[in-house]
Amino acid sequence: MQILVLLLSYLFGSIPIGLLIARLYNIDITKVGSGNIGATNIQRNLGWGPALVVLAFDIFKGGIVLYLAKMLGMSDFYLAACALAAVLGHNYSIFLKFKGGKGVATSIGTLLVMNPLIGLGTVVIAVGIMYLTRFVSAGSMMGGIAAVLLLLYHGDPLWQVVTATGLALLILWTHRDNFQRLQAGTERRLGSPKEAKK
Ligand code: G3P
Repeated sequence: MQILVLLLSYLFGSIPIGLLIARLYNIDITKVGSGNIGATNIQRNLGWGPALVVLAFDIFKGGIVLYLAKMLGMSDFYLAACALAAVLGHNYSIFLKFKGGKGVATSIGTLLVMNPLIGLGTVVIAVGIMYLTRFVSAGSMMGGIAAVLLLLYHGDPLWQVVTATGLALLILWTHRDNFQRLQAGTERRLGSPKEAKK
């Protein structure tokens, strides 16, 4: 049963809501802006309304998977595995030939259910950095690292630290191009479609 839940976590995480919403506007989101299917690129190209829908669903994907796994009384090992499977599904979607997004919103969903206090703290730090720099990628990467440090500082269970470390490593990996653009001064800032083209 646990393996089945793990598989379903991956499949649910694989749902590419950003791509599907953009299709409603006759846009292939993988071909515009950063090419990412996440809320940031949706915001740049379609505006805040669609972006918030995508953000909410991508957070929901991670949260509901871990919530159901918890309700089923799964072991800590499988809880960690389900959280990572949902994010891996988002990043390497079976519906997109194993391509996908960067996994930030889905990671936030799992963090909020895994440890609401640390999840909220992470969101505050990440959003604060995004607000100050207008680089969503910088907030995402710093947020991923902050989650691990907050869990360690707070003395939370090992499985949570391991899960957050896995999520942070995935975020750093999926943001490797963003990191290079930040270093080169060519990273896109969060803003209107007009600003995104700069
Ligand atoms: O969650 C993705 C965000 O951190 C960066 O998105 O479109 O700027 O690559 P993007």
